[in-house]
Amino acid sequence: MDQLIECKDIVKIYRGRGLAGAARGFKAVDGINLSVAKKTSFGLVGESGCGKTTFARTLLYLDPPSSGSVRYDGVELGTLSHRELRKFRKRMQIVFQDPNSALNPKMSIFDSLSEGLINRRIDKDERGRRIKDLLDLVGISYAYKNRYPHEFSGGQKQRIVIARALSMEPDFLLLDEPVSNLDVSIQAQIINLLSDLKKEFSLTYLFISHDLNLVSYMCDTVGVMFKGKIVEQAPTDLLVSNPTHPYTRRLLASIPGAAFGERGLSKGLEEESVLVIEARKAQRQGSGGCPYYPFCPIGDGECTSRAPGLRSLGDDTISSRHVVSCFKTEAGT
Ligand SMILES: Nc1ncnc2c1ncn2[C@@H]1O[C@H](COP(=O)(O)OP(=O)(O)OP(=O)(O)O)[C@@H](O)[C@H]1O
Ligand SMILES: [Mg+2]
Repeated sequence: MDQLIECKDIVKIYRGRGLAGAARGFKAVDGINLSVAKKTSFGLVGESGCGKTTFARTLLYLDPPSSGSVRYDGVELGTLSHRELRKFRKRMQIVFQDPNSALNPKMSIFDSLSEGLINRRIDKDERGRRIKDLLDLVGISYAYKNRYPHEFSGGQKQRIVIARALSMEPDFLLLDEPVSNLDVSIQAQIINLLSDLKKEFSLTYLFISHDLNLVSYMCDTVGVMFKGKIVEQAPTDLLVSNPTHPYTRRLLASIPGAAFGERGLSKGLEEESVLVIEARKAQRQGSGGCPYYPFCPIGDGECTSRAPGLRSLGDDTISSRHVVSCFKTEAGT
């Protein structure tokens, strides 16, 4: 399939304060490989602090990766000048969790939506027409065009942010927890809106969330992220029907009514044993071992000495797309 995005070995290191921090830094993203085929949606799921937003920002070169490469529609973003990148980035729009910080409180929504169109040198009459169409698309009345962000609800503001992203006629939307700040009923409306827009404009999505349920509803492929790495990735139905990494099982187990492996929780999720304490210490010192081991119900001594890499769960075209980084699991167990 034709790939819109191909990331190879993306690493992002934040240099901390103080001598040790500055020297060693903190790997917020630790070697992510990920491709998103055109017109598909990829869901990236993981708990708070695992590096989702950091990865999103490196992907768009808003904050370039410390190492690794991003190809967008065949073009290596790292080779572009600032100017070329800015031009290119119009094709890649991002929607963040908090619409309040995305919209300028001092600008009417008409002016907010005009910005991108002016930038694209679209004349005044045409701008008016396009803004009407965009607001129609996201379900906001054109009669409200002169209102300011504070006059809208959270869900309406997120609709306006989505309209603004669409005004650039992107082919890719990066949705970073776009509904986490909203009430559950409003979440569903925005998700449905995003699904409709995706079809209508043949968009490609990277959908970031801590909610595996949401991601699996929206996306064709799901990647599960833990501490800066993808620990399992598969076409959505495979991942949901056969979650293989203990962390994925734990995420699924926390969805009410979801099935999970019977041995999934038997050891207790965060049981502190001498081995666990040792493993945490080894992790902190960067001396190897599986990062999930301290939380893992099935890990053993093997997992403390070296870190597993991603491996395929089968050879055929479908199961080879299901990859997992765990020594202890097999497909179907
Ligand atoms: N600018 C920064 N400088 C130093 N560390 C940072 C910076 N931004 C993020 N971090 C750290 O990097 C890690 C990953 O943060 P990130 O915001 O990418 O996580 P996330 O998965 O998006 O979390 P959330 O679900 O809460 O949004 C965290 O430990 C965070 O404290
Ligand atoms: Mg985030």
